[in-house]
Amino acid sequence: MLFRSMKISDTPRVNELLRQVGSADFVPPSRWWFLTRLFLPTFHIFALEDDSRAIVSTVCFNRMPNPKYNWRGYIDYVVVDKSHRRRGFGRRIMESTLVEAKKFGCREVLLSTSHSEAQALYKSLGFKVKTTSVLMRFTS
Ligand SMILES: CC(C)(COP(=O)(O)OP(=O)(O)OC[C@H]1O[C@@H](n2cnc3c(N)ncnc32)[C@H](O)[C@@H]1OP(=O)(O)O)[C@@H](O)C(=O)NCCC(=O)NCCS
Repeated sequence: MLFRSMKISDTPRVNELLRQVGSADFVPPSRWWFLTRLFLPTFHIFALEDDSRAIVSTVCFNRMPNPKYNWRGYIDYVVVDKSHRRRGFGRRIMESTLVEAKKFGCREVLLSTSHSEAQALYKSLGFKVKTTSVLMRFTS
């Protein structure tokens, strides 16, 4: 297994994986879109390759300055290819992402999920359900 940052040439495969969780074209096909985000020091898409060098899992990681936690990390869009689930890839990409979060200076990492299988994974990695609710609205 190889954990690494996403490259522009990975875009079609990353989109394929994101479509499996209903996030069609989260990463637009435009290279410019990706390039501009590539220069954001706080935003990362990580990829996990299996032994045949195919990407089988991706995750988005972001961080924000936080007075209490130095940096606060946010994990989103964790996905393992349907045909590769229950083989430890989800655990591996999460563990590697948490190592990166620590290197980036995050003392706390947040994520939200409504999927029970994902909750089992996150809890086994030490995540605890916070009592605060997540509120959301679109800006228009
Ligand atoms: C959630 C997901 C990332 C797990 O990836 P995975 O590679 O299958 O997970 P792993 O093989 O590393 O399993 C790690 C742990 O997760 C839990 N888990 C994973 N799949 C599970 C399932 N179908 N049912 C119950 N627990 C499950 C188990 O605790 C498991 O540990 P165990 O194998 O020791 O029992 C994967 O199922 C997925 O991509 N799901 C669709 C997208 C999604 O829900 N993403 C999360 C959105 S926030």
